[in-house]
Amino acid sequence: MGKDVIVACDFSSKEQVLSFLDQFTDRKPFVKIGMELYYAEGPAIVRELKARGHKIFLDLKLHDIPNTVKKSMAVLSRLDVDITNLHAAGATNMMKAALEGLTRPDGTRPLLIAVTQLTSTDQETMERDLLIHEPMDQVVMHYAETAKNAGLDGIVCSPLEAEKVHNRCGKNFLTITPGVRFADGEIGDQKRVMTPAQAKAIGSDYIVVGRPITAAADPVAAYNRCVAEFCD
Ligand code: C5P
Repeated sequence: MGKDVIVACDFSSKEQVLSFLDQFTDRKPFVKIGMELYYAEGPAIVRELKARGHKIFLDLKLHDIPNTVKKSMAVLSRLDVDITNLHAAGATNMMKAALEGLTRPDGTRPLLIAVTQLTSTDQETMERDLLIHEPMDQVVMHYAETAKNAGLDGIVCSPLEAEKVHNRCGKNFLTITPGVRFADGEIGDQKRVMTPAQAKAIGSDYIVVGRPITAAADPVAAYNRCVAEFCD
């Protein structure tokens, strides 16, 4: 899979997501299904979007004991998603177990990506609540390296971190980057943002774009603009 724009379908019902995606008659976007939509509609929504021709990043961020994660990943691999993820904080044995569970009998598997520290966790919170006292960028890079050593395919990170991650973990280690905004667009609640063109320039492999597309007056035009800036 090459560089692509992944549309974050942060909707809470099948009706909403289908009426949004019905607008895309030409190119079928790669879509991200998160906890909200998955918990509302269950695995059927994954099968339905897959049948409609969309690639799927199933963003459920698993984090549990290795055996539970392994068995859950085996179930998700049968949904035929293209990318799924977990928390690197679950540590090496959990990540290795996840890979085992995700691998289908024919040896194929979805890409497996790690979440490092959530962007909602800042340095102060990490020190106070998690008793982690290293600087945030070192923590993120350490989690990235741990994920790579466990055999994972990449991490979710800020576009501002993508270059550093590639330098540390190699250019084939995938960086999936949210926090993307058009130069002339609303930033909303994202703090550290980049345009699709900037994300391309620093080497992001996939950008995850939600509201700049889902809340646009013309979502198809906004999606096409992202594709033109990032992929072409
Ligand atoms: O609407 P917006 O473009 O901000 O959506 C970004 C998407 O990426 C959302 O689904 C959000 O949950 C997700 N995300 C993020 N920052 C992270 C990890 C995931 O914005 N660090």
